[in-house]
Amino acid sequence: MKAIILSGGKGTRLRPLTYTGAKQLVPVANKPILWYGIEAIVAAGVTDIGIIISPETGEEVKTKTGNGDRFGAKITYILQDKPAGLAHAVKVAQPFLGDSPFVMYLGDNLVQSELDLFLESFRAKNLDALTLLCPVANPSAFGVAKVDEEGRVLQLVEKPKDPPSNLALVGIYLFSNVIHHAISCIQPSPRGELEITDAIQYLIDQQKKVEAYQLKGWWLDTGKKDDLLEANRIILDTCLNSAMLGEVDEKSQVIGRVQIGPRSKVVNCTIRGPVTIGSDCYLENCFVGPYSSVADQVTLIDADLEHSVILQGAKVVGIQQRIVDSVIGQRAHLKVAPQRPKALRFLIGDDCQIELA
Ligand code: TTP
Repeated sequence: MKAIILSGGKGTRLRPLTYTGAKQLVPVANKPILWYGIEAIVAAGVTDIGIIISPETGEEVKTKTGNGDRFGAKITYILQDKPAGLAHAVKVAQPFLGDSPFVMYLGDNLVQSELDLFLESFRAKNLDALTLLCPVANPSAFGVAKVDEEGRVLQLVEKPKDPPSNLALVGIYLFSNVIHHAISCIQPSPRGELEITDAIQYLIDQQKKVEAYQLKGWWLDTGKKDDLLEANRIILDTCLNSAMLGEVDEKSQVIGRVQIGPRSKVVNCTIRGPVTIGSDCYLENCFVGPYSSVADQVTLIDADLEHSVILQGAKVVGIQQRIVDSVIGQRAHLKVAPQRPKALRFLIGDDCQIELA
């Protein structure tokens, strides 16, 4: 069994963060989203992993993630020259996959469940495809499956206006090598992409063995800001352990589960967990409230925030109103003068969103 993780794509819904970096490297609880997927696959016993990368962000993914040693895996990088669809990514990965059955994992997805149960079922039943499903409130925004009582998939529809069920396709699939033939038989969809749903539908139409498993725990697709904040909240809630590697002065108060990285300094602050703070940060006169992740080399002075993600090297100074539900990009600077400001002065990148609520 091999695995591929799709870490190319356009990432339009997470602009402007994706203008300068891969969306799969955006951190959730200070760890790149992509790494949760690698860890889940390795935990299920699959260590031969291909990562699909794009020409724009591939180098960054490679440099940050490495050859797999840190995960106990062997990672091969596979360049997809354009984001021509999920099935196109499988096509590009065919030389790596050979005839092996494989896990396909979308690099911006997070799931709570362990994968070994699905792998066992796929092997035991000798399936050609196993899809994972999760009930959602707005099925029209997803690929949706119609399934019979035995879990056999009858039909798949991409973003249907009139959904046949509330079961959305989770971004994790298992395939036998017959998927390659199916992909060679499908045409690009109206949006110009080779759709994996069309390839699976082809398998269903050919009476191949396609089944679905309903996920028990949560599933998050972190492709948009609010989903990213939700992933951050859930991971901090369920996985964070306290660790105090930095320096906290005696005027500061640290309450609940809080992680502070090496060489970070906290002066006269209140930090109410769950909160994670990276290394080499400086925090003075701040309140950092629950469900916040602060990456490495961040400076926060006279600032107040909660339920937010602050990326590497950002600087927030003198913001007295509470910053909530926010994602602040790498090296971004937000500063308010100590006296009541008379003017607002901005240098804001394309597609940024600023809301003075
Ligand atoms: P999507 O989130 O469906 O697509 P996208 O990354 O282009 O994002 P957006 O819709 O915001 O523009 O992709 C799911 C995952 O698969 C994601 O990790 C990117 C990856 N992907 C590829 O590697 N190659 C592709 O051709 C496509 C479409 C996606």
